Amino acid sequence: MGKKHLENADMAKAISRVDGRAKVTGAAKYAAEVQLQDLTYAVLVGSTIAQGIITKIDTQKAEWAPGVIAVISHLNTPGVPEYKLQNQDVIQKQLRVFDDANIYYNGQPVAVVIADTLERAQYGASLVSVTYKKEQHVSNLEDNLSRAVVPKKAKADPRGFTSDFVRGKAGAYLDAEVQVVEEYIQPSEVHHPMELHSIIASWEGNDKLTLVDKTQGSQQTQASIAKSFQLKPENVKVVATYVGGAFGSALRVWPHEIVAILAAKKVQKPVKLVLSRGQMSYMVGYRPYTLQKVSLGASKDGKLVGISHESYGKTSMYEEFTENVLQMTRMMYDVPNIDTKYRIVPLNVSTPAPMRGPGEATGSFALECAMDELSYKLNMDPIALRLVNYAGQDPDKLLPWSSNYLKDCYRLGAEKIGWNNRKAEAGTVQEGEWKVGYGVATGTFGAFRSAATIKATYKADGTLLLQSAIADIGPGTGTAMTSIAAENLGIDPSLITFQLGNSSFPKAPMQGGSNSVATVGSAVVAACTNLKVELAKRAAKQKQEWNNAVPANIQLKGNELVNSDDTASKVKLVSLFTEGGLTELVIEGSAAQGDERNKYSFYSYSVHFIEAHVHELTGVVRIKNAVSVVDCGTIVSPKTARSQLMGGIVGGIGMALMEEAVIDDRTGRTINASFGDYHVPVNADIPQMEMLFVNEKDPYLNPMGSKGLGEVVIIGVAPAVANAVYNATGKRIRHLPITPDKLI
Ligand code: MOS
Repeated sequence: MGKKHLENADMAKAISRVDGRAKVTGAAKYAAEVQLQDLTYAVLVGSTIAQGIITKIDTQKAEWAPGVIAVISHLNTPGVPEYKLQNQDVIQKQLRVFDDANIYYNGQPVAVVIADTLERAQYGASLVSVTYKKEQHVSNLEDNLSRAVVPKKAKADPRGFTSDFVRGKAGAYLDAEVQVVEEYIQPSEVHHPMELHSIIASWEGNDKLTLVDKTQGSQQTQASIAKSFQLKPENVKVVATYVGGAFGSALRVWPHEIVAILAAKKVQKPVKLVLSRGQMSYMVGYRPYTLQKVSLGASKDGKLVGISHESYGKTSMYEEFTENVLQMTRMMYDVPNIDTKYRIVPLNVSTPAPMRGPGEATGSFALECAMDELSYKLNMDPIALRLVNYAGQDPDKLLPWSSNYLKDCYRLGAEKIGWNNRKAEAGTVQEGEWKVGYGVATGTFGAFRSAATIKATYKADGTLLLQSAIADIGPGTGTAMTSIAAENLGIDPSLITFQLGNSSFPKAPMQGGSNSVATVGSAVVAACTNLKVELAKRAAKQKQEWNNAVPANIQLKGNELVNSDDTASKVKLVSLFTEGGLTELVIEGSAAQGDERNKYSFYSYSVHFIEAHVHELTGVVRIKNAVSVVDCGTIVSPKTARSQLMGGIVGGIGMALMEEAVIDDRTGRTINASFGDYHVPVNADIPQMEMLFVNEKDPYLNPMGSKGLGEVVIIGVAPAVANAVYNATGKRIRHLPITPDKLI
C-alpha cells in the first residue's frame, strides 16, 4: 500500500475553487454590493452607556437633515410582532430591538437613521441626541465571579457538557503523585471576517419580504425572520450567494437585521444596512472571555489519575450563551476520574457567539497547556505523555470511535517538524538573540451530519446543475460538492454548476459545526445515485442488460453511459433524453443522519506542531514553522481543505499572539474596535506552514468517508504556540494573547 496521507504537493493537483475567478475579478457580488432601485441607507445609533434607561431621544435635527427619510427608535418603531407573543418566563432569545428604553450594553442600538445616501444617513445619525439615566454596570469577569450561574441549558441536559459532571471521583488529582493546578485565561476575540455584516431588506406589500443578507444559513434566517415578523416562511426569501467569511458570526439573526427590516417597513423602500468595522466588535457576537481552572493528577509514569476542570465565561444580561469548553476534557484522554463545572457570568456586554472551534478552541488552550506543564513535571516527552493516555474508545460515551487516527497525526507531524531537535529542558536553545522552542498540542471537534436535499438538473448537453440552500462562507462548499459529484458520476468538473446560498433552494443546514460536506455531500451522492438509476432505466429500453446495473458501477464517460467498463452495453447519453422529447432530467436526492450515533462516537482530530523563536530583549515571538496534521476522514476537495487548514493555523496563531477585544471597564466600551487596534496576523507574521491530512476514510458518518474540518483546524493551535514559547523561554504564559510585554 502506498501512502494515503496528503501533503502539500499532493493537493496542488486537485480542482481549484469553482468560484475563484468570480471572487478575484469582483464578479461575485456580496450582500452590500447588490444594487436595487430606490435603495435607501440605514445607519445605527448606539448607546453610549452600558446599563440604564433612555430618558429622552431628540431626533428632530436628524429628521431635518438633508436626505433623511426617517428616524426610528423605541418611541416610534413599527414593532416586531413576535415580541408581543413571546413568553417572558423563558430565557430571552435575543435582544428585543427598540422594544423599550432599557440599555444592557454599550453600543446597543437605540435608534436608526434612514436616508437617501449612506453619507447623509451617517450625518443624520450623528445628530441624534440621546439622554440616559445611567446605572452601575459590570463588565469585568474576574471582578464578578460571584455572579456566576449554572446555565439553564445545563438543567435541561444533565449529561451535556455544560452540566456539573463527575466520572469516578471528584478531585482525584489530589491523590496523584504529580499534580498541575493552574488558571488560564482566553480573552474575548472578535470574528472580524473581511466582509462586514450587511443586509438589504425589501418588503413587497405587508406580507412578503426579501433579504439579501450575510448569513451562514439562508433557510435558518428565513425561519427566524418569519417567526419574528409572523410571516409565512415561503413569503420570506433570503439570498446569500457569496459570504466573505463569518467563522460563526452569521449563525443567527442579529439586531441589525431586525432593524433593517423595521426600517424598510417604515420607509416603504428597500433599506441597506452595513455595520461599520467598529460595530462588528459588539454587534455580531465574539468568542467570550473565559477563565478556566485545570487540575491534573498523574502517576510518575505519566498515566492520568484525575482531571478537574472549571470554566467561567462571559454572557450578556439578556441571554445565556454557552459553549462546549469542557467536552475535550471529558473524551480526549483515558482518565478514570474527571469532574467538570461550567458557569456563565451575566455582564453588561452583548451576547457572545460561536467562533471557529467554539468552546473547544478555548478548552483545548487550558487542557493542552496543562498537559504540557505536566510533561515537564514528569520529565516526559509531551507526545509520549499523550500516547500513554490515548483513549482506545470514547471514555465519555463509552462507545467505540467511528475512526481515530490521532497516533498517525502525532507521528507524521513529529517527523515533519523535526521533533527530534526539541530539547526536553526549556530555555536551552539559543540562535543569536533568539530563544528557540518546539510545542505540540491536540485538537478535536465532534463530527456531525444532518439532513439535506439536492436538486439535480441534468441536461442533454451533458451539463449538470446542482442546487442547495447551503451557504458558503469561504471554505469552498461549491468546489467540494462539485468534486463529489464529478467523482461519483465520472464526469468532468467543468460540466457541473453548484448553486447555493438561497432559501428557495432545497433544504440544507446552516454552514456551521463543520457539517456541510458530511451533510450536503451525502445528498449530492444520493442525487447522483438517483440520476444514474434513472439513466439506467432509460438505457434499459435500448439494451436489456441495463436492468441489472448497479449504481456504483455506472459512469457517465464522455458522451456515453457506461456500466463497469462493459463496452457492449454503452449507450449514447443524448439518446436517453429522446423519450418524451426531454431536454433535461430533474432528479432529487436526500440524505439524513441514521442511527450511527448510537453505535459510534464521531470526532475529527488535529495535532499542531510549532517552532517558535522568541527574541530575548524585546519578547517578540516569531513562528518559524507550523505543521498541522488532521484526521477528518477522506479529503474530498484537497485544495480547499488545505486552504481551510491554513486558515485554521493562521487563526490559531492570531489567538495565541495577538487577538484580544479589550473592554474599558469604566465605560463598558470596546476600546479596540477597529482593525488598527484589534490585531490579527498579517502575511509577515505567518511562517512556513505544512498542512497534512491523514486521509483515512471514516466508515460510518457518510458515503464519502469524510468528517468535519472547519473547526478542528484551529483547535489546539494556540496551546501549541504557548507550549513552544515555554520550551523556548521557560516562561509559561497562561493568559492569552502572548504579547511581548508578558515575556520580558
Ligand atoms: Mo462555526 S463557529 O459553527 O461557524
